[in-house]
Amino acid sequence: MIEIFANSQELARGAAEYFVACSGEAVAQKGFFTVALSGGSTPKLLYELLVGTEVPWSKIHFFWSDERHVPPDHPDSNYRMTYEAMLSRVPVPEGNIHRIHGENPDAAEAAREYEQTVQQLDLILLGLGNDGHTASIFPGSEVLHETKRLIAAPWVEKLNTYRITMTLPLLNSASVLFLVSGAEKAEIVKEVIEGPKKYPAQFVQPVNGHLLWMLDKAAASRLATD
Ligand code: 6PG
Repeated sequence: MIEIFANSQELARGAAEYFVACSGEAVAQKGFFTVALSGGSTPKLLYELLVGTEVPWSKIHFFWSDERHVPPDHPDSNYRMTYEAMLSRVPVPEGNIHRIHGENPDAAEAAREYEQTVQQLDLILLGLGNDGHTASIFPGSEVLHETKRLIAAPWVEKLNTYRITMTLPLLNSASVLFLVSGAEKAEIVKEVIEGPKKYPAQFVQPVNGHLLWMLDKAAASRLATD
């Protein structure tokens, strides 16, 4: 399903409403909600907006769909971005924050360790890169073919670094919300949603949950209209 919003502010508002609904529903049903946050710049507005909303913070467990190979206080850390935008400003118990240990010099070990930490997820937030990557599954990556491991530590040639990322078996086991904003994403959004299957983001096809794309008008501008 695809939802289109007027601008990035409205997109963040729509995503916040969805987050509130999903967390409320999960908590009412089983007492807790598990969510994987995404990095990149797009979801920052969502995280900031969530600070002011009524969600059952103490019953939400936070995970990350991917992390850069850096310590948690590094400017590139996805954990740091989410902590500064949201987690440090809301009443979430420390024990509910399950970050990826990007500071581990051995990225593969950080991945193995996170595999022991991660739980069944209710919702996974994802972004879309201009090259069709999602989480840290880049085009041409071996991780695209992973069938067993839930977390991997691929070497990303174009960025000259390791990343630590959820793999498709895990991404496809939950409901997924893609958040994409901006005209510079319009072409890849069109290719990923309407084109033949070749980009990593197109392999995200949840088997037990929903797949929802939330786009702003600029990102959706090249989609065919009915
Ligand atoms: C990361 C990601 C990555 C991101 C996309 C989109 O760690 O960078 O999780 O997959 O979501 O690159 O990023 P933007 O929102 O910054 O365009």
